Formats: sequence, C-alpha cells, structure tokens
Amino acid sequence: MPVVAVLNQKGGVGKTTLATNLAAVFASAGERVQYIDADPQATALDWSATRTGEPLFPVVGIPKNTLHRDMPTLAAPYQWTFIDGPPLVFDVAKSAIMASDLVVIPVQPSAFDIWSAKKITDLIAEAQMYKPGLKYAFAVNRKSAGTAISRDFRQSLSVAFPESPIFLTEVGQRVAFVESSARGLTVVETEPKGQAAREIQKLAAEIREMTTNG
Ligand SMILES: Nc1ncnc2c1ncn2[C@@H]1O[C@H](COP(=O)(O)OP(=O)(O)OP(=O)(O)O)[C@@H](O)[C@H]1O
Ligand SMILES: [Mg+2]
Repeated sequence: MPVVAVLNQKGGVGKTTLATNLAAVFASAGERVQYIDADPQATALDWSATRTGEPLFPVVGIPKNTLHRDMPTLAAPYQWTFIDGPPLVFDVAKSAIMASDLVVIPVQPSAFDIWSAKKITDLIAEAQMYKPGLKYAFAVNRKSAGTAISRDFRQSLSVAFPESPIFLTEVGQRVAFVESSARGLTVVETEPKGQAAREIQKLAAEIREMTTNG
C-alpha cells in the first residue's frame, strides 16, 4: 500500500504533471489508486473536473497538515496513494513527507532547480530522523534534447547532492503532457505508444521497484 508524494517547494516543476500521469499508469494496470491533492491551488481537482469520461482514480483535496496522522486510514483501501504536493506551504509539505513511503522530487534542468532543491532535501532529512525507512529520489523532468544544460544536469545534480538518488528515467519536454492535461487526461490514455507514455511507464516501474524492494 505504498504512499508516494510528488513534492518540491519550487513551483511549476511538474509535480501535478508527474503525479497525475504516474497515478494513471498504475490505475490503467488495474490497480486501486487514489490521488490526494494536497495543494491549496487544487490543480489536480480542476484537472479531474475537466475530464468528461470515467475517472481513472478518485481525486480528493486534502491540503492539510494532518495528512501524516490520517494516512494509515486513508491509504488502507488502496494499492497506491499519490500525494500531489503544494509549493511553499511548509507545514503541509512536512506532513505529506511524514505520510509517505517515497518522495519523488521533480527537478527541471536549470541551476535554479538545483539551488532550490536544498529546501526539500533538508525537510526529508529531518523527517528521516523520525521515519528512517522513508525514501526519496530526484526525477529529472522537462529535459530537452540538444541543450548543454539538459545534457550536464544529471551530473550537476549529483555533484550538488552526492547522497541523493536520481531516477534513471528522465522525462522529456513533451507536448503530449500539456495537451492531455488540458482535457483532464493523461499520456497513457491519449498517446499510449508515444515517448511521453514510455517515459512515465519507465518511471512508474522504478517507483514500483523502489517501494517494493527493501
Ligand atoms: N515533461 C513536461 N513536458 C512539457 N510540459 C510539462 C512537462 N512537465 C510539466 N509541464 C508543464 O509545466 C507546467 C507546470 O507543470 P505542473 O503544473 O505539473 O507543475 P507543478 O510543480 O505542479 O506546479 P505548482 O507548483 O504550481 O503546483 C504545466 O503547464 C505543465 O503542462
Ligand atoms: Mg501542481
């Protein structure tokens, strides 16, 4: 019953994009998934309301600092719980970290993202004192082919955070994410054979591996 939070204090890094698309991978494999929108902006709730067809998974809005306390009860009926985190709301982010088994930290290939990632890694390190089994990893998102910063980003990130794992899968800058989300959908639904879906499926496989092995 893993709980996976997609968090970063920095805004606009792809938290909602990765969380909705990852949740869709597990749900479309027939697994019971719930999605907790812990962002007071309620982007994922808006996304889900845009959808015309059947929802792939329930989306509930809980932008509260009581998530960690309530999570055992909330997560029990589901095989996967995804938490879409807020930017900047520290107490909710802390609670989401404490509620989770794994924190996925989206980062975009930019020096700003490296500098700002220290905030979330510090919060995680603090949480690990109380919850030693808590795992986390950076997920490189919006990588564009052919730019030097994209090419060197992984190396720069690992120099800045030598102790921190980085998912092998890097998600590209892909219009499929933008187009599908505008319709309340995900890339595994709109372009199941496309690059974006392939990347999200690989990232989901890494998450499965990380949450089920040790
Ligand atoms: N891999 C990608 N390829 C193309 N566009 C992307 C990708 N990831 C995110 N985006 C776009 O970037 C913008 C920000 O993404 P998103 O809303 O997922 O970020 P966020 O971290 O949830 O933002 P906030 O901090 O406001 O909650 C959106 O317009 C989204 O469509
Ligand atoms: Mg968001």
